[in-house]
Amino acid sequence: MAIDLSREQFAAIVAALPDGALAIDAEGYVIAANGEAREILADVAVGRHVTASFRSPSVLQAINEARKGQSSRAQHVFRGDIERTIDIHMAPIGQSGGRGAVVLLSLRDLTREQQVERMRADFVANASHELRTPLASLTGFIETLQGPARNDEKARTEFLRTMKIQADRMARLIDDLLSLSRIEISEHLPPNAATDLALVIRQTAELLADTARKANCQISVSAPERLPVTGDFGQLSQVLSNLVENAIKYAGRDNKVEIVGEMRGDAAWVVVRDHGPGIAERHVPRLTERFYRVDVQDSRTRGGTGLGLAIAKHIVNRHRGKFLIESTLGKGSAFSFCVPVQKRSMITVY
Ligand SMILES: Nc1ncnc2c1ncn2[C@@H]1O[C@H](COP(=O)(O)OP(=O)(O)OP(=O)(O)O)[C@@H](O)[C@H]1O
Ligand SMILES: [Mg+2]
Repeated sequence: MAIDLSREQFAAIVAALPDGALAIDAEGYVIAANGEAREILADVAVGRHVTASFRSPSVLQAINEARKGQSSRAQHVFRGDIERTIDIHMAPIGQSGGRGAVVLLSLRDLTREQQVERMRADFVANASHELRTPLASLTGFIETLQGPARNDEKARTEFLRTMKIQADRMARLIDDLLSLSRIEISEHLPPNAATDLALVIRQTAELLADTARKANCQISVSAPERLPVTGDFGQLSQVLSNLVENAIKYAGRDNKVEIVGEMRGDAAWVVVRDHGPGIAERHVPRLTERFYRVDVQDSRTRGGTGLGLAIAKHIVNRHRGKFLIESTLGKGSAFSFCVPVQKRSMITVY
């Protein structure tokens, strides 16, 4: 039974599909396209030829097969600043006025899926590499202590000290990974406790005073008496500690680090500013990726795992706040975050 469908009927079918979909007539002109298809393909429009959207031979060949009555599939890669891969299923879905088969193209943008898969693979490779480095060093020392240095008391003391550093490093990495996964799991549930961000600032500055002294770094704090926010005290302290620790580690030697807390509208902001070497522009958007470091060796020798800013970003996201990084080479950096102000009903009365 042959059914001739009208353009309106093709348009209705295409509009009802959840994925990107378009129908083209026997000559290759678009007769219908849904909103999803227009989002995926900027150049698609009713009346335009399909080659305005796809020119790759594999896609055109698959369309030809479908026109002859056989379902087919192809992928199209859009090159550019951001590479995008579109998966296309093609099927003949009837005749347009007896001139040949109308082909339905169903489109799925695979870019996000591929990105997630790449990130997952990178993450496993990075985590294994970060664990393997201290592990290899531990194994080396154990073998030396079992062999050539068996009776060398001086070497033993020195090796055990280094082994402790490597073991602590592995423990820290595991703690950070667990911390990251815990935060990710709870990211959809914003905290609802009343917290004072000014207290977080004062306590963090106090806790890191010794680290700063050792680096001859001067920490200055400027914040009001109270900054009432909705948040998790421990997590916000974790964010600020990492920012201040980074500022001391990477920029604060013989220099100043400023912590400023202030209320701006309906959010409380904290800015950690340093006057160190700054960070080149190309690195800035990537700093919050797991394990991303400007100088991996430099970070490792300082005991860093490259997870601090990734954890900070996820904590701020969980708080429905914002996280900003500004940096100028040769001048220094400012890392800021905000969290929503405490709701009136939550203010604790002392
Ligand atoms: N204030 C800063 N000045 C210059 N570079 C910085 C600053 N803060 C962070 N960075 C760069 O960003 C990278 C990522 O920071 P992040 O806190 O995520 O990791 P880390 O400090 O290396 O390790 P961890 O925080 O796990 O100890 C650092 O390795 C460093 O290269
Ligand atoms: Mg850090």
